[in-house]
Amino acid sequence: MVRENISFRLDLAEAALAIRADRGQLDQVLMNLVVNAADAMPDGGILRVGTGRSADGSPWVSVSDTGCGIPEAIRDRVFEPFFTTKAPGKGTGIGLSVVRGIVEQHGGAIVLESGVGRGTTVRITLPAADTAAVPADGPASGDKPLPRGRGERVLIVEDEQGAREGLAEILTSLGYTVFAAASGEDAQAVPAEPPFDLLLTDLMLPGMAGPDLAVEMVGRWPRLRVILMSGYTEDETLKRRIAAELVRFLQKPFNMTTLAREVRVALDEGGDGR
Ligand SMILES: Nc1ncnc2c1ncn2[C@@H]1O[C@H](COP(=O)(O)OP(=O)(O)OP(=O)(O)O)[C@@H](O)[C@H]1O
Ligand SMILES: [Mg+2]
Repeated sequence: MVRENISFRLDLAEAALAIRADRGQLDQVLMNLVVNAADAMPDGGILRVGTGRSADGSPWVSVSDTGCGIPEAIRDRVFEPFFTTKAPGKGTGIGLSVVRGIVEQHGGAIVLESGVGRGTTVRITLPAADTAAVPADGPASGDKPLPRGRGERVLIVEDEQGAREGLAEILTSLGYTVFAAASGEDAQAVPAEPPFDLLLTDLMLPGMAGPDLAVEMVGRWPRLRVILMSGYTEDETLKRRIAAELVRFLQKPFNMTTLAREVRVALDEGGDGR
């Protein structure tokens, strides 16, 4: 990911910083920022990842580069879905919109500092966790009850049988009305009367891809909420097919707590329109 002409520095806070965040999603944030930083330094430079604590005690993490910088004129646009200055095939413009979505979901904030020809720093501040140690399987695990469904209709589209059955079982046990299909084509044939409330679909499916299915279904039911599940290695360009506002990403693998929370948040967002 980081080439040989780039030197990498870590400036970490002395004490460990406990944050309230989903580990997989935080990885996704950092990966997007590091790739952007590396892309900004085609002729090499210094990539720095730092952590610290702001005046009010909130932990932050930053990714800096000594690359090309972001011109003032486009600084407000870089977080827009599909905004890219990269050549086709090099970038889809989804990276920073995913970063923004994840940071907002966590109640955090992003500050961008950039100088043309000098470089860019993206600093992300996240809410501090109450306790010093965060369980490895996610912040909300433990004795807190999982957010539950109220009979909302969830359509799961997942080609892997074990994963499909597992998801269906968990969501049923949480109080959702679950429908499941192994492909986009099968999903379109599931009777939807009344319409589904949430589509939880894998990104990569045999035949019709998850984003295409989502676009088709949202066309039919504009209030449908969508969660795309994806693994790390999957093709970023597929994600461009769908606006980031429409969709939440759920990075695989995820645990039951993350699933319960994401489903609840996705459905609750639907209430105030979009
Ligand atoms: N560190 C950076 N230095 C200079 N420009 C940046 C930096 N990070 C982002 N940008 C600018 O913001 C644009 C949008 O970034 P974003 O990560 O959303 O998309 P992308 O990198 O073009 O594509 P993708 O992340 O989907 O592969 C980039 O095309 C680039 O112009
Ligand atoms: Mg990017």
